[in-house]
Amino acid sequence: MHARVLPHYESMSAAAAAIVAGKIHEKPDAVLLLPTGTTPLGMYRRLVRLHDEGGLSFARATFFNLDEYLGLPPDHPASYRVYMRENFYDHIDADPGQVHVPDGSAPDPEAECERYEVAIREAGGADLCVLGIGRNGHIGFNEPGAPFDSRTRVVRLSESTRLVNAADFEENRAPEKAITVGMATVFEAREILLLASGANKANAVAAAIEGEVSEDVPASMLRRHPNVTFLLDHESAAAMELGDE
Ligand code: PGA
Repeated sequence: MHARVLPHYESMSAAAAAIVAGKIHEKPDAVLLLPTGTTPLGMYRRLVRLHDEGGLSFARATFFNLDEYLGLPPDHPASYRVYMRENFYDHIDADPGQVHVPDGSAPDPEAECERYEVAIREAGGADLCVLGIGRNGHIGFNEPGAPFDSRTRVVRLSESTRLVNAADFEENRAPEKAITVGMATVFEAREILLLASGANKANAVAAAIEGEVSEDVPASMLRRHPNVTFLLDHESAAAMELGDE
């Protein structure tokens, strides 16, 4: 496991974008498993700029998203499908046929999970998985207690996660359930990059990096992965005993 502490959000985002761009240079047909949320916005902005100004092409890459709310129409402004279009896919040369987000409006969500898991497998698994981290240590929507051998499935969101995400929804009520790629699916990625920014992530980061490896803190399980990097800004690293690198 590597942990890199960068001085601030912008430098963390630049380092993340450089790693993703490096992967695309090395393997133009790479399979990427990607997050939503506030944290990766700076990374996406930089990748779009590298596409616009640096000629970085994503045309041969395949994209999978980590998760999606259940029960939202795909054009709902708070859906992750819309988030990804607005922040990334609409601004690069991604092949629309190679862009995958779980369908949160599928009539049979269990079948949708199975279809999604198979699609990732058939694409050859992820070359690079980029993750955020929840204040409770979740990755994707794998909330505390998520089994290490879990696959893409329907999950119930924790009250704390629903509260954090409530502002995106009418009447401040986030959906109760979501589809998430499972812990085992994340683990099979050949490389994992976890991004964290801000003081409100400091406890989760410290628990993930310095606490017990436990399903109670899903991000801690990443320490068993052979190729994982935690990219942290200074504030999110502040609760670690070892402090900055
Ligand atoms: P955030 O979400 O980037 O909006 O903080 C991260 C997460 O919950 O995984």
